[in-house]
Amino acid sequence: MRTVFWENNELKMIDQRILPARLELVAIRKHKDVAHAITDMVVRGAPAIGAAAAFGLALAGFESRSNSTDKLFADLQIASTLLKSARPTAVNLAWALDRVMNNAEAVKDSFSADDLRQYILAEAQKIANEDVEINKRMAEHGAALIDDGDTIIHHCNTGALATVDWGTALGVIRTAHEQGKKIHVLVDETRPRLQGARLTAWELEQYGIPYEIISDNMSGHFLKTGKAQKVFFGADRVAANGDVANKIGTYMLSLAAYDNHIPAYAVVPTSTIDLSLEHGDLIPIEERNPDEVLGIQFHGEPIAPKKAKARNPAFDVTPNRLISGIVTENGVVYPPFDVNLKNFVK
Ligand code: MRU
Repeated sequence: MRTVFWENNELKMIDQRILPARLELVAIRKHKDVAHAITDMVVRGAPAIGAAAAFGLALAGFESRSNSTDKLFADLQIASTLLKSARPTAVNLAWALDRVMNNAEAVKDSFSADDLRQYILAEAQKIANEDVEINKRMAEHGAALIDDGDTIIHHCNTGALATVDWGTALGVIRTAHEQGKKIHVLVDETRPRLQGARLTAWELEQYGIPYEIISDNMSGHFLKTGKAQKVFFGADRVAANGDVANKIGTYMLSLAAYDNHIPAYAVVPTSTIDLSLEHGDLIPIEERNPDEVLGIQFHGEPIAPKKAKARNPAFDVTPNRLISGIVTENGVVYPPFDVNLKNFVK
């Protein structure tokens, strides 16, 4: 099953808030509800929210009553602005919306309003289908970096759930496993929303890949004691110089890997690379509700005093000097990233 898909005139998506307790789908008929589902993280992961937003535009097309192509296009522009604002860091969101809108603008004058509606839906389907194909290509390139017997530290969730299907960094691990390599995964639980413990562990069980969950602060220990040979993660945005914005904690993990001469790889479709930003400090970092940090319980009780305050940046930026390679669908990019990265973006 795909993480996001179109069925019976509805957008369906796996509700990632309730996994691994239950595998349930939500069905969405309005683009505003797609924006809300992205903000609320029913759907999450950079490529998955890009595809969901593209289908959101298709819904906006069907919601608009306009018979004039120009008026329909104006309604789509309003919907696109709303969808784009749902989360700020993952560039795939803006990338997918801009791609659909730019293509629609190029054809709209020769289309009826109904033709344009169908065209937008077909474009969204194309983005979803391409995502799966691109992930499999990335996985082949990335799997070549994994040796038989490796223990790999993985951060957040970058699997089928974070994409339309297959995954980025976890897709690499899955392909290496299917190639017959014996792999063990140390799964960073990924505080505060626990995408590792909840989602990555659930996926690894489906694929029969051996794993153990570790709390995020344990990875330095395993890297220093020679218990892990590789680090893999995805990204929400990569700047032109190879700085990588990814789930909070990636920076500390990469620092510990670098200090112990363990290679750390980011696995990203080229739609995650933002050549318009010179370096990572220009990437907008989402700050989410502190309740995500404070809301967790220990022995059935809140973990912090009632009046405790918290901070909750959802992403951090890992400087390019800590990244060993960036795996894309067009091959593995090595430093210097400011020179090499642009040659892989077609
Ligand atoms: O906040 P999330 O769960 O959407 O964050 C997801 C990540 O940080 C992933 O590592 C990233 O989107 C790349 S995975 C395809």
